[in-house]
Amino acid sequence: MAKTVADGFFNDPRLAQAKKLIHEALGEHSSKITGVRPADPELKESYQALLKKVADYRGGALFYNYLGSGIGNGPLVELADGSVKYDFITGIGVHYMGHSHPGVIEAQLKGAVSNTVMNGHLQQNTDTAALLELISHEACKYGAGVKNVFISTSGAMANENAFKIIFQKRFPANRFFAFEKCFAGRTLGMAWVTDKAAYRQGLPKTLDVDYIPFYCEGDHQGSINAAVAAMKKQITRFPGMHAGFVMEVIQGENGSWVGNTEYFEALIKVCRENNISVFIDEVQSFARTTELFAFQHFKLDKHADVVAIGKNSQVCATLFTDDHKPKPGLMSQTFTGSAAQIAAAYYVINSIVTGGYLGADGKIERLHRRFKANLERISNKNPDKLKGPFGIGAMVAMSVFNGDEPKSKAFTIKLFENGVLSFMAGGHPTTRVRFLMPVMATEERHIDEVCAIIEKTLSEMD
Ligand SMILES: Cc1ncc(COP(=O)(O)O)c(C=O)c1O
Repeated sequence: MAKTVADGFFNDPRLAQAKKLIHEALGEHSSKITGVRPADPELKESYQALLKKVADYRGGALFYNYLGSGIGNGPLVELADGSVKYDFITGIGVHYMGHSHPGVIEAQLKGAVSNTVMNGHLQQNTDTAALLELISHEACKYGAGVKNVFISTSGAMANENAFKIIFQKRFPANRFFAFEKCFAGRTLGMAWVTDKAAYRQGLPKTLDVDYIPFYCEGDHQGSINAAVAAMKKQITRFPGMHAGFVMEVIQGENGSWVGNTEYFEALIKVCRENNISVFIDEVQSFARTTELFAFQHFKLDKHADVVAIGKNSQVCATLFTDDHKPKPGLMSQTFTGSAAQIAAAYYVINSIVTGGYLGADGKIERLHRRFKANLERISNKNPDKLKGPFGIGAMVAMSVFNGDEPKSKAFTIKLFENGVLSFMAGGHPTTRVRFLMPVMATEERHIDEVCAIIEKTLSEMD
């Protein structure tokens, strides 16, 4: 069979030898990272100078005094001051595989030695074909129709593309529905979808969005009735003007608030009766429930017209049905993703679907149960300091000091100093502290250690 020059290159024994050497060196050095440790006093001064330099050049200080050294070991990451911390926020939900994962590094090496830095829509290498097939196949395995996959570079861009597809299909309808307190990104368009005033302060208005109250676990039927009534009211006010409904089925940035199948189905029924497209924003929920896609977890397969993914998928993408195919010219991008990123995305997604992570007794659920049990125990001992846990699967949250915002912030910073990365979510009066753990690298003992640090941190605060 005819072979390309590339076949010869990628199978050259010298590449295999080079990878072997890299793995040996990585294993040897990464294994020195064995647990949380404080900063090295000798690095303190240079680290502070580095932090200042970054703050000066980027126009503002970082939220945490975090600059990674470039190596870690599973859920543990080394910072440039020599300290080691548990990374339970993973770049707000990206490093599913933890740090210095040999499989991910191997995948990236293939990308790193390929001909260019970047793939774009005019010129893509063969790895893209395999990735598109994997994502499409997994998305449609229970009968969903979102078989077309358009790769892009951020969650906000994947969402922009979703909105464009839907507006074009539903022209001249020019409004959208979204959930109250949703997060959709920060482009000029998405800043008007994300339900947070501070994120669009001073920006010209780009989109008209009508907000629907999100599902409330304590009031199942009441929240369904209220949401359906709110939708119908807006449809009466703006007849025929709603193009789509962006559904963030688990609200991540708001603090891991979880939706419900019956609730979504009731809203989707109204969408169907009024020619409104259903867009599921899975940028944060992808690979964090019992299924690869949260729409599969909620059994909404037959209803999804458009879906966006990001974060855990390592590349971002917009998936859509044949019925929602855009006209030529609507979408294209110079950057779809680097070769290393595309190779890593295939490795990570393929590992998730084949590696025992999904399902009612998969690793995601097992880790969730362990985390929940630990946090419940701490909450029972400190009912005034910790409430919860909340969330689902690999989206775990809690509230500290009754959701007080400044205290929650102070807690996350103290927790960081004590060795665990978390992040705040939501806002007054329901601020939460949430965790997006590196599922591929986390074992139950890591969760126990993280929870011991949470408990210690709480004990240090009044
Ligand atoms: C649900 C959701 N949509 C969109 C985005 C935007 O993604 P990005 O920050 O990659 O642009 C996020 C990011 O947190 C998100 O959680």
